[in-house]
Amino acid sequence: MRNILLMMTIGISICSCSSDKGEIYKDPNAPIEARIDDLLGRMTVEEKVGQMNQFVGIEHIKHNSATMTEEELKNNTANAFYPGFTEKDIERFTEEGLVGSFLHVLTLKEANYLQGLAMKSRLQIPIIFGIDAIHGNALAPDNTVYPTSINLACSFDTAMAYTIARQTAREMRAMNMQWTFNPNVEVARDPRWGRVGETFGEDPYLVSLMGGQSVKGYQGQLNGNEDVLACIKHFVGGSQPINGTNGSPTDISERTLYEVFFPPFKAGVDAGAMSLMTAHNELNGIPCHENEWLMTDVLRDQWKFKGFVVSDWMDIEHIHDLHATAENLKEAFYQSIMAGMDMHMHGIYWNELVTELVKEGRIPESRIDESVRRILYVKFRLGLFEHPYADEAQSMTVRLCDEHRQTSLEAARNGVVLLKNEGILPLDASKYKKIMVTGINADDHNILGDWSAPGAPENVTTILEGLRQVSPTTQFNFVDQGWDPRNMDPKKVAEAAALAQQADLNIVVAGEYMMRFRWTERTDGEDTDRSDIDLVGLQNELIQKVAASGKPTILILINGRPLGVEWAAQHLPAIVEGWAPGMYGGQAIAEIIYGQVNPSAKLALTIPYSVGQTQMIYNHKPSQYFHPYVDNKPSTPLYPFGYGLSYTTYDYTDLKLSANEIATNGTLEASVKLTNTGQREGTEIVQLYIRDRFSSATRPVKELKDFARVTLKPGESKEVVFTITPDKLAYYDKKMKYGVEPGEFIVMVGPSSADETLLKQTFVVK
Ligand code: BGC
Repeated sequence: MRNILLMMTIGISICSCSSDKGEIYKDPNAPIEARIDDLLGRMTVEEKVGQMNQFVGIEHIKHNSATMTEEELKNNTANAFYPGFTEKDIERFTEEGLVGSFLHVLTLKEANYLQGLAMKSRLQIPIIFGIDAIHGNALAPDNTVYPTSINLACSFDTAMAYTIARQTAREMRAMNMQWTFNPNVEVARDPRWGRVGETFGEDPYLVSLMGGQSVKGYQGQLNGNEDVLACIKHFVGGSQPINGTNGSPTDISERTLYEVFFPPFKAGVDAGAMSLMTAHNELNGIPCHENEWLMTDVLRDQWKFKGFVVSDWMDIEHIHDLHATAENLKEAFYQSIMAGMDMHMHGIYWNELVTELVKEGRIPESRIDESVRRILYVKFRLGLFEHPYADEAQSMTVRLCDEHRQTSLEAARNGVVLLKNEGILPLDASKYKKIMVTGINADDHNILGDWSAPGAPENVTTILEGLRQVSPTTQFNFVDQGWDPRNMDPKKVAEAAALAQQADLNIVVAGEYMMRFRWTERTDGEDTDRSDIDLVGLQNELIQKVAASGKPTILILINGRPLGVEWAAQHLPAIVEGWAPGMYGGQAIAEIIYGQVNPSAKLALTIPYSVGQTQMIYNHKPSQYFHPYVDNKPSTPLYPFGYGLSYTTYDYTDLKLSANEIATNGTLEASVKLTNTGQREGTEIVQLYIRDRFSSATRPVKELKDFARVTLKPGESKEVVFTITPDKLAYYDKKMKYGVEPGEFIVMVGPSSADETLLKQTFVVK
C-alpha cells in the first residue's frame, strides 16, 4: 500500500509540474492533438519504436524461463520467455521508456509495479496493459466470469453483450488493465477449429451486432476510469482454416470476404473500435501480418479505421520463420510495418531492428510517427497520463460485485440451449427422487471455458452443486469420471452403468475439456483443434451404458465447438447444450432442468451430424445440396441455426408485408403475430430471414436480417414488426458493386432457420 501511495504521489506530481517546463503533453486541459505533437517532438527514435512494442509481464517470464525449454517456446502461443533476457532486462527497458505495452500481467500489484517503472522513464509515458478479457477478465484471479461468447450469442441478447463488456471494463480498470483483446468477431465456419467457442457463431449479421455492442460496452466514451480499449480480431479468415487447424492457411474469395468475413470487422470499426488484431493465417497466399491490402487499403482507406493495429502473438516473426516470405526477422518487421502494422506482440528484437531500419532510412520516421500517434492517442483518451495506477484498496469493491455476479447468472440462463425434450423436462422432483449424476463436466470448473483461470470454489457453481442447490430434496449420487475425457477409467464407466439401474433418472454431463492451465491435455479451445466432432474418449460409451439401464437418461453438454452427438439425439429423451456458461453455469443449468427458468436460447451456429458435414452453414448457396450425400447422412444438420426449445409453445401467424413493391432505395415493414400457446411465460427469439430470389451473382438460400426477443405470458399474443431497409437487401453484384438489385425477394419469419418452420411472403424491388 505504501508503495502505491508513493507511486500515486509520483503520478500526481507528473501532472502538477507539467506547465513549468512547457510540457504540453502533461497538461490534461490541452487538446489531445497538441499533447501528441508536443510529446512526439520530444521522443527519440528508440522511444518511438519502444511505444510500438509489447512485452509479456515479468511474473509470467520468471515462471516460464524456469519451466519451459527453447524447443517448447517455438511452438507455443500462450507461454513465453525471452532466452538470454531476464526480468531485470525487461525492468530496465521499461525504466528507459522502451516498452509501450505489457500483456499477460495478471495482478494489480504487478501492473502498478511495472507502471511505476515506466514512471521513472525520461518522458514518463504510461504503459497500456492488454489482456484477453474474453468473457470477463477471467484469466486474472477474482473477477466475474461470464458465459463464453458462443453462449452469449445464443441468447441473441445484444443488450447483454453491451452490459457484460461494460462490467468487464470496470473490473479491468480496477486492476489497472486498459485494453482487452476482444471481441473476437470471426465468423465461425469450421467446427473442428478449437476457437469456435470464443466467437459469436456462424452468422455475419449476429456476429456484427454482438461484436458492435461489445465494442461499445468496453470502450464507453474511451476515457475516465471505467473504459477500456476494445480490440476486434483476428483480421481475417482464420475461422475457416484449411483442415480446421488454428492458423492454417485460408483461401477465401474477395466476394466471400466482403459478404461473410468482413462485415463484423466493418461493424466493429463503425462502433468505434480503436484497435484491431491481425490473424495468424495467410490469406490467399499473403500472411495477414504483412498484408497491405487488408491493413491499409481495406481497413484505413475504405473503412476509415482510426485506431491502431496490433500483431498477434509472435506472428510478425512467423512471416520469416513459418510463412517464409521474409528472409530474416528484420525483413519481416519491415514488411509488416510498411503494410500497416502499428504494434508488435511481443519480444526483444523489435526495438533494435526497427530502430536500425529507421536509421538506415528504409522505414521513414514519418511512418513510425503515424503508429506512435495512434497509440498515444488511445493512451491520452483513456486518461493514463493522469491516472497511471489503480487503487488496490478500491479494487475488490468493483470486481465480483453482486451486480456483476447477477449479470453472469442471467446471461447463463439466457444462453443455454434446450436441444431435445420428449416431455421429460422440466424434471418432476417428486417423481425422480434418486438421480445418478456422472460425466467429466458434472462437477468441474471447466464450465468457465477457455480464457479462464480456475476459479475459487466459492465463486463457481458446478452443475452437480447447482442441481443440489435447486432440488434439495433429491438424492443425487455422483460417479466421478475425472476431468480428462482422453483418460477415462473403464471401471468408473462400469460403476456409473451399474448405479444407473438403481436410480430413477440419470444425468450425464459430457463434452469437451477447455481449461487452459492444462494446455496440452484439453480437447477444445485455442490451438486445440480436432479432426472429429464426436465426443472424445469413453464418453459415448458412458452415455450408452447408462442409457442401457432403461432408466431415463438426459445429456448435458459443456463445450465450445458444436458436437455431433447423433446417438444421443436419437436415443435420449433430453439434451441440454450448456456451452461454457460461466461461474454460475451450474445454477443456471439446474434451474432450467427443474423448470425454474424457461429456456429461450437458440443456436448461433449449426450443429452438423459429423465432421463430414463441415461447412453445413444455414446461409449456404442454392446449389450446395443439389446432389445429396449417398451415405445415409441427410443434407440437413443435426440441429439447425436458430433452433432451440422452450417449455412453452408459440404460434406464428399472419405474416404481412406493408408493400408488395418497393423502389431500390425503399423500405417496407414485415409484421407477424406471435402467440404463446403453452402453459407458461417464455421468451421467444423471433427471426427474420431474407432471400434474394434471382440475382446477378448467387445469393444464399436465406440470411438472417433481423430478430427480436419477445416475452409472452400464456395465451398472450403480440404483433412483432420488422423494418426492412435497403441495407438488408443490398449485396455485391456480379461486378462487386454494392447495392440493391431489382427483382423478387422472399421474407421468412419464424422460430429457426429450418425451412419448414418459417412463414413466407414475397415482394418485388422495382
Ligand atoms: C491469440 C490472441 C490473443 C493473444 C494474446 C494469441 O495466441 O491468437 O487471440 O489475444 O494470443 O494472448
